[in-house]
Amino acid sequence: MAGRVAARAHTNIALIKYWGKRDEALYLPTSTSLSLTLSSLYTDTRVSFDDDAFEDVLLLDGQIQDAASTAKVTRVVNLFRERYGVGSAAPRVRVESHNHVPTAAGLASSSSGFAALATALRALFEERYPDAPRMSDTELSTFARRGSGSATRSIFGGFVEWAYGTGSEDSVAVPVDDAQWDVAMVLVALSTQKKKISSTYGMKHTADTSAFYPLWREVSERDLDDVRAGIRERDIDRVGAAMEANCMKFHATMFAANPPFTYLTSRSLAVIEYIQELRAHEGLSVYYTMDAGPNVKVLCRRSEQQRVHELLEERFPDVTLFDAVAGPAPRTLTEKEWEELYG
Ligand code: PMV
Repeated sequence: MAGRVAARAHTNIALIKYWGKRDEALYLPTSTSLSLTLSSLYTDTRVSFDDDAFEDVLLLDGQIQDAASTAKVTRVVNLFRERYGVGSAAPRVRVESHNHVPTAAGLASSSSGFAALATALRALFEERYPDAPRMSDTELSTFARRGSGSATRSIFGGFVEWAYGTGSEDSVAVPVDDAQWDVAMVLVALSTQKKKISSTYGMKHTADTSAFYPLWREVSERDLDDVRAGIRERDIDRVGAAMEANCMKFHATMFAANPPFTYLTSRSLAVIEYIQELRAHEGLSVYYTMDAGPNVKVLCRRSEQQRVHELLEERFPDVTLFDAVAGPAPRTLTEKEWEELYG
């Protein structure tokens, strides 16, 4: 009988950014990053062995995906085939994925996507090959990493670091804090269009050409220390200030690339300005960060989230807002849950 397993993984937003690979094949980062896993944005993925098929198949929201997207999935599946000692003898895999995140809009759907894929594949391979050594969550994060760097951090809930590490085995996700305190996010989706410059290309171009890039690791580590201290003290203002500082340095590396580029738009800047205004005049603990897209993610107190949401809605009535609190680690879904959701 063909095995079949489904899993759900949540997206994460980086407070300290990952921006560059020191090893492109192994997806080893040039610096340690730190993120918050989010409750309301996630990917559900079901994987099954197809003993008769010749190729892996990928369906996203019911649509069969092209060869390039399927190849990225196959690359990860092959690592599992190797890890479970079955190499190319293992049957092909069918992957069905449903995104509850606007895909590729800088809302980090690749993080939840590859984390859900890796979680489901671990369960599938363990079921089929029970004699192979068990895989810990820490090891699992190295498999998610090989799909997309940011997916490493979605293997745990709350605040999570992705360690620089000395090599492939210890460049892993490390849970830092469950974030079950007065912290939340409001995501301001200014555009749900697919981004023009992929993060893979953007980070490579920046690392290769930016005059500011040689400073990136060092300045990022200082911001990281500050965010860590803020989390330890449960001081959202300290966390938020260091997050903003890191975000602006991250975007500055792109302004200094050759040729220069930016993911920010005039609308991103308008939201930033408004966040600064809310902080100065409304006394709210609100802080912004942006990734490889124009959307702004606002860190705020959970106790002030509703007010922040309302104020943003009033000022920017045509944008979509998503509220989130700290999300959990991935989990497998039962057959019944899957059927109820996707039929
Ligand atoms: O792993 P990728 O390709 O999704 O790259 C993510 C890069 C940023 O989102 C910009 C930063 C981060 O650490 O998530």
